[in-house]
Amino acid sequence: MSYVRYPRAGSPAPAATGWDAWAEDYAALGASNPTYALGKELLHEIVDEVSAPPRSREAWVLDFHCGAGDDLARFLARGWHAVGCDGSLGMLAAAAARCESDATSGRLELWHGRAEELELSSFEARRFDLVFSTTGGFAYLDDELFVRVHRLLASMLVPGGVMVVAHLTRFCAAEGLFHLLHLRPRRAVERWRGRVPVTVRGERMLMRLRSPRHIRQLLAGVLHVWRLTPLLWCTPPFQSGFVPGPRTLTALRAIERQTAHIDALAVLADQVVCVARPLDTSSNNAR
Ligand SMILES: C[S@@+](CC[C@H](N)C(=O)[O-])C[C@H]1O[C@@H](n2cnc3c(N)ncnc32)[C@H](O)[C@@H]1O
Repeated sequence: MSYVRYPRAGSPAPAATGWDAWAEDYAALGASNPTYALGKELLHEIVDEVSAPPRSREAWVLDFHCGAGDDLARFLARGWHAVGCDGSLGMLAAAAARCESDATSGRLELWHGRAEELELSSFEARRFDLVFSTTGGFAYLDDELFVRVHRLLASMLVPGGVMVVAHLTRFCAAEGLFHLLHLRPRRAVERWRGRVPVTVRGERMLMRLRSPRHIRQLLAGVLHVWRLTPLLWCTPPFQSGFVPGPRTLTALRAIERQTAHIDALAVLADQVVCVARPLDTSSNNAR
């Protein structure tokens, strides 16, 4: 199946398992889970540093694997026009419900499709000022697809456009420590192998986690990787089950913010944020 606009008459109903089944609860994570929300807050600070929407014309961002649309809502609030795509109809339904007025006004387009089917002509050959993705969509792709999709996404950028893609890593120090303190030694080291079987609402999937070094190797010759920066290196991420109280959260936010520019910390972080440009525009300065 290639990419098709969502909603569309005759779309099948969301499935009772997998991402579709998680979508409703997932959509609430930003409000219910403080570390999920903190990760998004910090990530969008990086986005704002490297890419602001140009004011002179419509600026378009692609949120690849947009999930339930909380990032889309942030982009729309900052003045972007947005395309969100995802392989899960349930997630797209949640994104559509969250951003209903923007979908109606044409500032937001949602597309249903799987990364495996991405083509340069997907999204009616639209080009983007910013390509964005976060929280693990790329972890479900093998290395060959990972590279192919990055190459295609880079080709969808306008001249001067930028990619900000956060990838789950193999080694997350804070998550490992959190599990050790809760006497879960197996969970403390499960990311280290780089291949983690997970069950998402009854559906078995394989996650492939990559170190910053591996990401750099895979993308050499594909993109100019300008920064690989840490996202949540001293805060156990939401999937660990850690829920900080308000004072702990304030302290963690302050540390994460003050250290966000220390790229060396990416080797310890839950996600590594890859800021990249197509090879032929690599000499441009970031806006
Ligand atoms: C953990 S969620 C992240 C969603 C969102 N980016 C966020 O930060 O909340 C991963 C998303 O990737 C989508 N996904 C996973 N593998 C995919 C694939 N091969 N093609 C399209 N979407 C996929 C899932 O449907 C899900 O919405």
